[in-house]
Amino acid sequence: MTEDGTPLLLVTRTLPEDGMERLQGIADLDVWEEDRPMPRSELLERVSDKDGVLCLLGDRIDREVMDRAPGLKVIGNYAVGVDNIDVGYATSRGIFVINTPGVLTNATADLAFGLILASARRLTEGDRYVRDGKFVSWGPRLMLGKDVHGATLGVVGAGKIGEAVLRRGRGFEMRLLYNSLSRKPSLEQELGALYRELDDLLREADFVSLNCPLTEMTHHLIGKRELSLMKKDAVLVNTARGPVVDEKALYDALSRGVIGGAGLDVFEEEPRVHPPLMELDNVIMVPHIGSATISTRSNMAFMVVEGIRSVLEGRMPDNIVNPEVFLR
Ligand code: GLV
Ligand code: GLV
Repeated sequence: MTEDGTPLLLVTRTLPEDGMERLQGIADLDVWEEDRPMPRSELLERVSDKDGVLCLLGDRIDREVMDRAPGLKVIGNYAVGVDNIDVGYATSRGIFVINTPGVLTNATADLAFGLILASARRLTEGDRYVRDGKFVSWGPRLMLGKDVHGATLGVVGAGKIGEAVLRRGRGFEMRLLYNSLSRKPSLEQELGALYRELDDLLREADFVSLNCPLTEMTHHLIGKRELSLMKKDAVLVNTARGPVVDEKALYDALSRGVIGGAGLDVFEEEPRVHPPLMELDNVIMVPHIGSATISTRSNMAFMVVEGIRSVLEGRMPDNIVNPEVFLR
């Protein structure tokens, strides 16, 4: 807090322009303006006098960071996933955690479906082929892929994003399976999606889309055993969090033909990618762009800024991850 009572907010990366504009006036800003993640040492130092921090999914906001900031009241994550934040410790310290649910549902589901289509129809491989000057004739056997329409889609984690992926699958006339912590009667009735235990879903699906949050329970949810259950030509798509999949086991499965292909938006040690994956043609990789549309990133900025503003003004935001802080 400044002497006149204005809150101080650390912003770990410059947001899109309208987001930065919205931040003006809610607090005195300390912005990391370089186009690379804020180094940990800077974060630890600069957080110490702050009332709030607006951070990205790559910033680890753990006990050490929170302990450096005795006056911290709110952590606003510019993401829906909050696996980078020790939420339990924040709650015990009375610190509110804000995220951006809802606004990125459709953008992320669009990307998951894009990866399904791109893997099935070998779009990135085909693009490389044309650019390399290899396209010399139409061929009856050239770059044959898999049908998406009529195939079986298995969605793991039927929250908002998983549901949106299932809706897209229905548009492509797919057979729909889902696995989730609890059954979703509305999905079963409205979309005709069938609930399956994870192993059964993996055995039956042609396309498996991961849409669960990263938690202790979902860490390496998909490993060697799970991959071995999948069909030989099945495609695994991950737009959730890298560590949900054992990346080394995935490499082995892709290189040995245990499964057919993968579409990855997220990586286990992001932004590092398990190097041998780079050499495989049956994996499509994009740099964690699930929410990367102009309007989605703007809506995320609006949401996180309004959430931080509410907390600083003593109101209850809608997008609070740990509402139990109010009950302390
Ligand atoms: C993106 O991965 C998010 O969690 O918002
Ligand atoms: C393919 O382009 C076809 O016309 O069958």
